[in-house]
Amino acid sequence: KQMLSGDSLKGVEMELRKEDGTRFPAEISFSSDERSDESSIRTIIIQDVTERKLAERDLLNARDQLFRSEKLASIGRLSAGVAHEILNPINIISVELQILQTMENLSPEVLEELKVCMAQISRIVAIAEDLKQFSSIPEKKMIMSDINGVIARVLTLYATQLKIEGIETEVQYQPDLPVIAMDREKIEQVILNLITNAVAAMEGEEIKVLRITTERETMFGKNDQLKIMIADTGMGIKSEHMSKIFDPFFTTKGEGKGTGLGLSISYGIIHDHGGSIWAENNELGGASFCVRLPVKTDIEKNQY
Ligand SMILES: Nc1ncnc2c1ncn2[C@@H]1O[C@H](COP(=O)(O)OP(=O)(O)O)[C@@H](O)[C@H]1O
Ligand SMILES: [Mg+2]
Repeated sequence: KQMLSGDSLKGVEMELRKEDGTRFPAEISFSSDERSDESSIRTIIIQDVTERKLAERDLLNARDQLFRSEKLASIGRLSAGVAHEILNPINIISVELQILQTMENLSPEVLEELKVCMAQISRIVAIAEDLKQFSSIPEKKMIMSDINGVIARVLTLYATQLKIEGIETEVQYQPDLPVIAMDREKIEQVILNLITNAVAAMEGEEIKVLRITTERETMFGKNDQLKIMIADTGMGIKSEHMSKIFDPFFTTKGEGKGTGLGLSISYGIIHDHGGSIWAENNELGGASFCVRLPVKTDIEKNQY
């Protein structure tokens, strides 16, 4: 209508449909030039801006990820410092308690109380150790490793528990993946965190399938990537939680159960490796966690 009335417009964004029914984002501009002989020339330009939209989305994602990593880095420095300070007195208390426990003539009640204290101290130590991992003080031991091997090792560690929980495991490794530079222990920890979460999410479900896949993704003009996916048939992630699950201390698990640190630690580790990590809900239920790691053809030291 606007065009017919002789208006001109620049850069209106609209979703249009192609002949085959697929939709695409378009930018439309039009102008009309009246000519002296009463006729007019109308020009309409329709530009397919799919590529630009994708680039804009990537940029937004990158900004979001950067914001998260900066936030994490400062939380990391603070919490690692605090954890370190807490561990010193806790060690002293723990030694003192052990001395008390070895004293003679203690009544069974007192021994029981001391045991409770020791158990709680172990919990504090576990939390503080988790917190210390936030600091990414460069202690990284980068070695060329095979991601399929890393996953297989973690699965071996987990085999008994998966069996007890009645979880069926399906793995689909792409063979002949290139080895990539990684801090093997840290990447193992990420895989372990993701599997632990998947196992917890499937508690009480009728169908329990843990599916792990690896593949190489070919990128144009960039390093290739390895993509690791860990999918479960658990309760899935509520949409209002999606943006929070990687935040430190975010947990939906009951008190004393989750620390809310697993995913944020994993996030830090993957970003330290120049990769990315994200979560999706599966169409048929359950959640998938995906990790991308860049393929470097040779070790470029201090690259991460
Ligand atoms: N596989 C999964 N399925 C559903 N929700 C998940 C899954 N993994 C993580 N989450 C959600 O993300 C939250 C944070 O996870 P995490 O950082 O590992 O901390 P924690 O496991 O201690 O709660 C969990 O409490 C849970 O709500
Ligand atoms: Mg966890």
